[in-house]
Amino acid sequence: MATSLTWLGHSTFQIVTGGKTVLIDPFFTGNPAATVSADEVTADVIIVTHGHADHVGDTVDIAKRTGALVISNFEIIDWMQKQGLTSVHPMHIGGSHKFDFATVKLTIAHHGSMLPDGSNGGSPTGIILTTDAGKLYFAGDTGLFYDMKLIGEEGLSLAALPIGDNFTMGPEDSLRAIKLLEPTWVLPMHYNTWPLIEQDISAWSEQVAAQTSAKPVIPTLGEAMELGQ
Ligand code: NI
Ligand code: MN
Repeated sequence: MATSLTWLGHSTFQIVTGGKTVLIDPFFTGNPAATVSADEVTADVIIVTHGHADHVGDTVDIAKRTGALVISNFEIIDWMQKQGLTSVHPMHIGGSHKFDFATVKLTIAHHGSMLPDGSNGGSPTGIILTTDAGKLYFAGDTGLFYDMKLIGEEGLSLAALPIGDNFTMGPEDSLRAIKLLEPTWVLPMHYNTWPLIEQDISAWSEQVAAQTSAKPVIPTLGEAMELGQ
């Protein structure tokens, strides 16, 4: 079965794998980069990296409408249940679980995770999805950390990294991250949503190609890319 990835702006991705549609950090309402609205997306599964509003996004509304299974850390899942969601699966950092669509593993991320109402969102996470197109790493919001070396040792097909700076690593640290992760493909996220995180994406892409062994991919908003083996 094929795996495809569509970037929906900011850190929001739709991945079709194992016959299921997976949304990561579904942020549509209030997202200036969004080209679709929360009430028109489909999902079987939603994975949330951390508690910030630009990542929890429209999870509650989409899950209520679609019945999607919500996967996140224990504290965020506890909060999701308080919002009325019942189809949930709590995990935590270092843990992996084989679902029917892919294996999901949560990694560390260096960031915050407070939920929109001020509740404790536990520790922020990254995600490794093991699919038939290999391992896909979504770093979430994070600064550079040396343990990316350990994540890279798993053998990554693709790494999606924040490059916007200010709240997460910026372009320069992302180059150091790529050298530690050594993915086949690297995809930028969490940039150009607001002026504060504006970046020159073609300059970044040139630096990735010149300084690392990874191939930069700049996805077109809303356009599905097939991921090969
Ligand atoms: Ni954040
Ligand atoms: Mn963010």
